[in-house]
Amino acid sequence: MKALVLAGGSGTRLRPITHTSAKQLVPVANKPVLFYGLEAIAAAGIREVGIIVGDTHREIEAAVGDGSAFGLSVTYLRQDAPLGLAHAVLIAREYLGDDDFVMYLGDNFIVGGIEPLVRRFRADRPAAQIMLTRVGDPRQFGVAELDGTGRVVGLEEKPREPKSDLALVGVYLFTAAVHEAVAALKPSWRGELEITDAIQWLIDAGRRVESTVVSGYWKDTGNVADMLEVNRLLLETVEQRLDGEVDPGSEIIGRVVVEAGARVTGSRIVGPVVVGAGAQVRDSYVGPFTSIAEDCQVVDSEIEYSILLRRASIHGVRRIEASLIGHDVEVTPAPNTPRAHRLVLGDHSKVQISS
Ligand code: G1P
Repeated sequence: MKALVLAGGSGTRLRPITHTSAKQLVPVANKPVLFYGLEAIAAAGIREVGIIVGDTHREIEAAVGDGSAFGLSVTYLRQDAPLGLAHAVLIAREYLGDDDFVMYLGDNFIVGGIEPLVRRFRADRPAAQIMLTRVGDPRQFGVAELDGTGRVVGLEEKPREPKSDLALVGVYLFTAAVHEAVAALKPSWRGELEITDAIQWLIDAGRRVESTVVSGYWKDTGNVADMLEVNRLLLETVEQRLDGEVDPGSEIIGRVVVEAGARVTGSRIVGPVVVGAGAQVRDSYVGPFTSIAEDCQVVDSEIEYSILLRRASIHGVRRIEASLIGHDVEVTPAPNTPRAHRLVLGDHSKVQISS
């Protein structure tokens, strides 16, 4: 069995972070979201992984390498344009051969991994096995319609009028039967070859499509709110570990990780929080569910429920909440007179100012 991991796409909902970084590499609890997926695949006993990459291929390749760090053997497959999930399967046709495979969307996060799903699929081998979960706004997803017995009878990609609130989770298991379905597809209204349509094709052709409805353990990290929520879920699982320097003037409360090489002085940190190697937290308050990446600086500031990417610095600002702050960003207070906001914001930045 192989895995096909999708790590292309442009990540429009995470702009401007994704102008300079692949969405799958945005860290949660200081680790790229994609790495959790690769670890889950390895834990399910799969070794051979094809990663579909697009414009951000260099960055993904630099981060994942040959996969040996995850116990995987990785092959990169280039998709020149984001033409859909089923298009990715088409590109991978030769790589996949006639093997069964799990298709894993690199920006999806499955709490608890995929081992039970893979085990069930291996034992049962339907043409396709999908996971469904209830969502607030199904129009943003692939949506399933079930009959009275819980069997999937219809699937629609991003329907204007959803027939249910059951969204397709971004982890799919297939036998080689899917290739015939993919080969028969026409582009959808959004110009993509939809995996949702391929699964519908299998249903129409009388092939067996199994589904499970899951709750509470899936997130599509395509937007900032979900990213912060996944960060929260992951930080819930950390244990206190203070390998870095914490001075006696600091107060560390609860599950806080201070990595070796990080320095905390004159600060109060209320966990769960992670402070990456080389980061400095000085004269500040860091509140629950905050991930501070490597080499960040938080000085004379307050921050909570946020993610800071590498080398971001926050000086003299209170209070920052529910924020995703990119690499090398600097946040500082404006001078008192004149009282004005001074902003240098990249394209597609989003700022909420309280004043
Ligand atoms: C894709 C699928 C959709 C699925 C979603 C899960 O959407 O097309 O059916 O529900 O992933 O994350 P996209 O990420 O292309 O918007």
